[in-house]
Amino acid sequence: MTVNPIAGTSDPAPHPHATAEEVEAAYQDTKLAQVLYHDWEAETYDDKWSISYDERCIEYARGRFDKAVPQADLPYGRALELGCGTGFFLLNLMQSGIAEKGSVTDLSPGMVKVALRNAENLGLDVDGRVADAETIPYDDDTFDLVVGHAVLHHIPDVEKSLREVLRVLKPGGRFVFAGEPSTVGDFYARWLSRATWAAATNVTRLPGLGQWRRTQEELDESSRAAALEAVVDIHTFDPAHLEDIARSAGGEDVEAVTEEFAAAMLGWPVRTFEAAVPPGRLGWSWARFAFGGYKRLTWLDENVLQRFVPRSFFYNVLITGAKPQG
Ligand SMILES: C[S@@+](CC[C@H](N)C(=O)[O-])C[C@H]1O[C@@H](n2cnc3c(N)ncnc32)[C@H](O)[C@@H]1O
Repeated sequence: MTVNPIAGTSDPAPHPHATAEEVEAAYQDTKLAQVLYHDWEAETYDDKWSISYDERCIEYARGRFDKAVPQADLPYGRALELGCGTGFFLLNLMQSGIAEKGSVTDLSPGMVKVALRNAENLGLDVDGRVADAETIPYDDDTFDLVVGHAVLHHIPDVEKSLREVLRVLKPGGRFVFAGEPSTVGDFYARWLSRATWAAATNVTRLPGLGQWRRTQEELDESSRAAALEAVVDIHTFDPAHLEDIARSAGGEDVEAVTEEFAAAMLGWPVRTFEAAVPPGRLGWSWARFAFGGYKRLTWLDENVLQRFVPRSFFYNVLITGAKPQG
């Protein structure tokens, strides 16, 4: 245990090197799997997912928030993030002027440590706790805003967690969760990723293509990570069903919106291909193709496809709602 100097509480220490027995046990225990998997990834997570704290990611985080809450009265006073990871969502939202003071929380001590370090480097007013989103360790009516990105699908009892969110929100306070996989989107993303992985790892066995192949050790490690990922990824969401869960938890003014259909169909194979070949192999023209293609398909999604493709077909689900006034 280490004492969290900011919160003044005892939080568990990061544990980045799990034993084989712990990994075995994690297959039966989703929360242990979360801690092992995310503690292991914490120090390299920002690089792995190209997370930065500059204009590119500020714009992305703020874009997700504005999509969910187009007319927010900013800034919020005190904001909480659940499943903060390295702080990608809240720290970038704070840099864009969403909230004055932040609290980052995550089940993984390693992630909280990195998020607090990132916040300190950015000069933001942020404290942090190791916390389970199903039992949030803050008093009732504490926060003006609660946010999360890519976290709800990891939480066993989503309704219980949203009840906790509403408990710690002040009356009238708002929650915004983004980056959740839709059920339909997850289906095509997984198939496209599997096909890309199989194609990339088989084609690179051919004579003359060896320099495009990762070492067998790296490929085996990716397969082990994918197996653990299957334990930590618990849910996918139909947007209407997620709205029902949020209302049943006590939220009002609840609305789910979705985004990324064509963009996801490019994005998942691209990310999988990047993971299948040796790092640095693809170079700038690939990066330009991938980012340019993603931007163009996002334009197509927002300006054309969103008019007639059902919302449940889009990959990313965002949900917002508020705590009743009293
Ligand atoms: C996919 S990562 C997303 C991290 C970050 N929000 C981002 O978008 O980069 C999910 C995070 O949720 C955390 N998490 C999983 N289950 C949790 C739970 N029950 N309570 C709190 N955090 C949890 C994990 O440890 C991990 O850091």
